[in-house]
Amino acid sequence: MSHKKQIQFGVILHGPGSHMNAWKDPDVPKDASVNLRHYQSVTQQAENAGFSFAFVADGLYINEKSIPHFLNRFEPMTILSALAAVTSKIGLVGTISTSYSEPYTVARQLASLDKISGGRAGWNVVTSPLEGTAKNYNKGEHPVHAKRYEIADEYLQVVKGLWDSWEDDAFVRNRETGQFFDKDKMHALHHKGPFFSVEGPLNIDRSKQGQPVIFQAGSSEVGKSFAAKEADAIFAISETIEQAIELYEDIKRRAAENGRKKEEILIFPGISPIIGATVEEVEERYEQIKNLVTVEEALNYLGRYFDHYDFSEFPLDEPFPDIGDVGKNSFRATTDQIKQMAHENQLTLREVALQVTTRKGAFFGTYEQVADQLIEWIERGAADGFILAAHVLGNLYTDFIEHVIPNLEEKGYYNRNYEGETLRNHLGLSFKENRYANKRETSIQ
Ligand SMILES: Cc1cc2nc3c(=O)[nH]c(=O)nc-3n(C[C@H](O)[C@H](O)[C@H](O)COP(=O)(O)O)c2cc1C
Repeated sequence: MSHKKQIQFGVILHGPGSHMNAWKDPDVPKDASVNLRHYQSVTQQAENAGFSFAFVADGLYINEKSIPHFLNRFEPMTILSALAAVTSKIGLVGTISTSYSEPYTVARQLASLDKISGGRAGWNVVTSPLEGTAKNYNKGEHPVHAKRYEIADEYLQVVKGLWDSWEDDAFVRNRETGQFFDKDKMHALHHKGPFFSVEGPLNIDRSKQGQPVIFQAGSSEVGKSFAAKEADAIFAISETIEQAIELYEDIKRRAAENGRKKEEILIFPGISPIIGATVEEVEERYEQIKNLVTVEEALNYLGRYFDHYDFSEFPLDEPFPDIGDVGKNSFRATTDQIKQMAHENQLTLREVALQVTTRKGAFFGTYEQVADQLIEWIERGAADGFILAAHVLGNLYTDFIEHVIPNLEEKGYYNRNYEGETLRNHLGLSFKENRYANKRETSIQ
């Protein structure tokens, strides 16, 4: 039995993959975003490899500038329910916005997924950053950032309350006596707050894991505080191990300030590894992915960091142009880093645009090198696990499963055998007790 820290993995089911033009890669179906068989196959591969969960992200507003996958994709709860029927162990996590939905409906949908899957559901709580979303709903103006989190906070209290509507043995179903349920074990919520009025009880009971797992992906100060208070697991974006350690410590400290134990909140940085058997193969793959975008698309993408600067007027194959202070007021750290990278490596505009659109990221190397990098992140306290956002959900993904995962197993950092049945089990989180059951015990004592 190994005492090494065990790495957890989740996979993002992002249609063809997380690269904006992954759909162009011949390795995936062209219609991957709306292809049930593709979703099934990616999820089953993750389950065979012992991944803790599969995750479906979401947004509620598109326009002609949205990336291809966003234009035509499945609604998370619907696709996750379909996946629940063809899997038996892997966790199923989906995004739902607290700014554009009703807590009673959402509590019910997630509780249903949790029961359908035998205790494998998770909810990525987001507040919807895109202002345009307001145009698709009838809830008035898009709430400002701070207010969105106030709403989310109350929303989550309501949902968690509704999820405890029924104690675990409330449904007696005794055919002899004709008693269907125990009235003392049914609890209405009677919630009245600034944003929601919800009477309850919810019309579905709890699952094997008690309540679905709460995920969060906010990166602002208020987003991180919310996560530290409420989330069981968080998705993080970190470019380097140093940044990841800083965030990891920050979140764990905030959780401790809320009276929580460090192991009660897990941190999963998103990773998009570029891997191969040899260094040459890794470079070749990087070139292939980089070329999924046209130069025009790449210039447009680059320009967004520089306050929508139009780079198309400059020659593509000459050194990156000197554009002075442009970008200082938008993504300052990123634009400084881009300029420095261009200068140090004497890159042309074309090279800079393509590299920025398809970043190499921290996990770039042979199977063995990437396995060692993952171990380093775990050992140095930068992550509890990783959410795999494969650039393309084709052979780049299957190679990760077939080569990187066995390497981690050999080194004693990964165990593909599920030890429990629920998502809480996989994540090492305890069963979520019903709040009323606890009360009953204390009152008896
Ligand atoms: C792995 C991962 C998954 C995410 N999934 C979603 C998602 O499904 N929907 C969404 O609107 N934002 C998603 N986000 C982004 C964050 O919710 C959000 O845009 C951003 O971090 C803003 O943080 P804030 O809410 O604290 O301002 C995700 C982020 C990461 C790292």
